[in-house]
Amino acid sequence: MLHLWYYFKRKTQQTFKPVILITGCSSGIGLATAKQLNKIKDYRVIITARKESIKMLHDKFQESERFLIRTLDVTDEKSRNSLIQEISKKWGGINILINNAGITYRSVVEHMTDADEFAQMTTNYLGPVGLIRAVLPYMREKGRGKIINISSVSGMLAMPTMASYTASKYALEGMSEALWYETKPLGINVTLVQPGFIHSQSFKKVHYTEYSKPEESSSGPYSDYYANMTPFIEKLMKLSWATPDKIAKLILKVIRTENPPLWIPATFDAFIFYYIRRILPRRLLLPFLFWALPGARKWGHGYTRKRDH
Ligand SMILES: NC(=O)c1ccc[n+]([C@@H]2O[C@H](COP(=O)([O-])OP(=O)(O)OC[C@H]3O[C@@H](n4cnc5c(N)ncnc54)[C@H](OP(=O)(O)O)[C@@H]3O)[C@@H](O)[C@H]2O)c1
Repeated sequence: MLHLWYYFKRKTQQTFKPVILITGCSSGIGLATAKQLNKIKDYRVIITARKESIKMLHDKFQESERFLIRTLDVTDEKSRNSLIQEISKKWGGINILINNAGITYRSVVEHMTDADEFAQMTTNYLGPVGLIRAVLPYMREKGRGKIINISSVSGMLAMPTMASYTASKYALEGMSEALWYETKPLGINVTLVQPGFIHSQSFKKVHYTEYSKPEESSSGPYSDYYANMTPFIEKLMKLSWATPDKIAKLILKVIRTENPPLWIPATFDAFIFYYIRRILPRRLLLPFLFWALPGARKWGHGYTRKRDH
């Protein structure tokens, strides 16, 4: 009851409209969040997409005094800096940054190249951390601000055929944890939203390497890994109750919460994996998860001289 009273009290008195910047709004969680933010007149919002997808945002949304559509490729330092400069001139700076844009490589470690690793890390880690650096001076000076990084269950647990994606989310998690200490004295909150499997089409946007693409990887030492993991992941996504809309609602809740926690598991499986990781001793964790993977005990057979004990 008291919460409600404070909520309405704050609502009636609030004239300040926080400036929110969100990346990767052309599909999935980003698009769902953009739709929700568009409805809330209390915020000034910049939704962004890469050049290739910007038309789609213009088709779906109407720009207004408080709602802007801009091009942003998170991997491009110039693109990041020129947008932040434009917003600084117009509205002073960014109060809430949502690092949502991300890509997913499906590949075993051996099938990645340096260029693939760089593409994965630059989109999911170097780009977001570059944006954080660009928005921090304004937030620090104001003594308030929020950085919301969309992480993943892959930031808690690794999965075969997704090593590089896992590494990018572990990097995002590690940086955010350090940043939490650095920004707490400055009044800036850092939050990691950690979705697990989401009922969406995003598995269709998976990136393959030259060696991991289905035409190449359907034979050879890792063929069973891909043949089992790809349908397994797609099935878990289809079975999931979580949708991009539900994650978008959770992100809105984080925006509205005074002091959100650093880690927020965002789906049911994310809670389960969080507790499995905490409760199971490491020596049992890996064999247990390996046992749960489809067909894993047969992976690599015929391609190694390893003897079964
Ligand atoms: N879906 C899941 O099951 C799941 C689970 C856990 C975590 N997540 C995380 O949630 C976030 C959103 O994922 P999603 O499922 O909504 O994926 P999605 O539908 O594939 O959307 C990803 C968005 O990122 C954009 N993007 C890619 N590269 C970019 C770049 N260089 N610069 C700017 N934007 C770029 C894409 O734009 P284009 O259209 O231009 O490519 C797209 O709008 C990601 O960080 C992902 O890792 C997703």
